[in-house]
Amino acid sequence: MSIEVIRVCKWYGIKKKERILVLDEISLTIHDGEFICLVGPSGCGKSTLLKIIAGLESYDGGIITIDGEKVKGPGLDRGMVFQEYALFPWRTVEENIGFGLELRGVPKKERQKIVDKYIHLVGLQGFEKALSHQLSGGMRQRVAIARALSLKPKILLMDEPLGALDAFTRLQMQEEITRIWKEEKQTVIFVTHDIEEAIYLGDRVVVMTPNPGKIKASVDVPLPRPRNRVDSKFVQLRDEVYKLIMDRRRKRHGNIMQGSLHEEQRAG
Ligand SMILES: Nc1ncnc2c1ncn2[C@@H]1O[C@H](COP(=O)(O)OP(=O)(O)OP(=O)(O)O)[C@@H](O)[C@H]1O
Ligand SMILES: [Mg+2]
Repeated sequence: MSIEVIRVCKWYGIKKKERILVLDEISLTIHDGEFICLVGPSGCGKSTLLKIIAGLESYDGGIITIDGEKVKGPGLDRGMVFQEYALFPWRTVEENIGFGLELRGVPKKERQKIVDKYIHLVGLQGFEKALSHQLSGGMRQRVAIARALSLKPKILLMDEPLGALDAFTRLQMQEEITRIWKEEKQTVIFVTHDIEEAIYLGDRVVVMTPNPGKIKASVDVPLPRPRNRVDSKFVQLRDEVYKLIMDRRRKRHGNIMQGSLHEEQRAG
């Protein structure tokens, strides 16, 4: 399914003086089956944009269509993995993963089969009966990913879905996500702070800048999958996106600050 975002604006705040423009005329076309990664400093409006496309947040100007139809609210065509994992604390891992299937009326036996498949896929075997407070942040995140994938949505909206994972599991999940996407050909918007992850996963990397949130650039990644992180073209693209983000910071600070980009972005 294709997504068209046309000149979308979003303001936060009710009182006139306190209103801030969070998204300023965002326009973005995502083709059917395309995998785009959205990167940009903390606060530039990535989550807001994703929630608007999911139909969970209102907007103040412009229009969003999916296959030509205006988005009016959430729908089964779109699966979302939130930045904050949003699990039901009273449900076990398998009950959380099976929640959407249950809502759809999938019979118990079939549901269990699907749930088992996705538990295996995200590596949570042995934790089927655990409650969310018994899980680590990374495990909770994997439950949320499994829950979204198990519904086989045509569109996947993922907000830093791998942010809480350890480095090794994160690489594994990147491979898994690539494999699933190749099979299912969903249209994907994937938010990440990790530029290498964006280049590894995306057909295209869209760079946003804050105050107000705008799209600064879109960088195509014309590399075959599975991608080689040390390939010279890969490294070149990674540097290109890095520079696009750092450019703005250099202008603001007058120099390039050392340290991890993630920390810098977090600091705004
Ligand atoms: N419910 C809200 N009410 C008021 N302001 C909000 C609300 N949600 C977000 N904002 C503001 O909108 C801006 C964009 O927030 P958003 O969460 O979309 O950023 P982000 O790019 O996802 O950041 P991060 O990388 O830290 O997740 C920020 O300035 C934030 O303070
Ligand atoms: Mg966010």
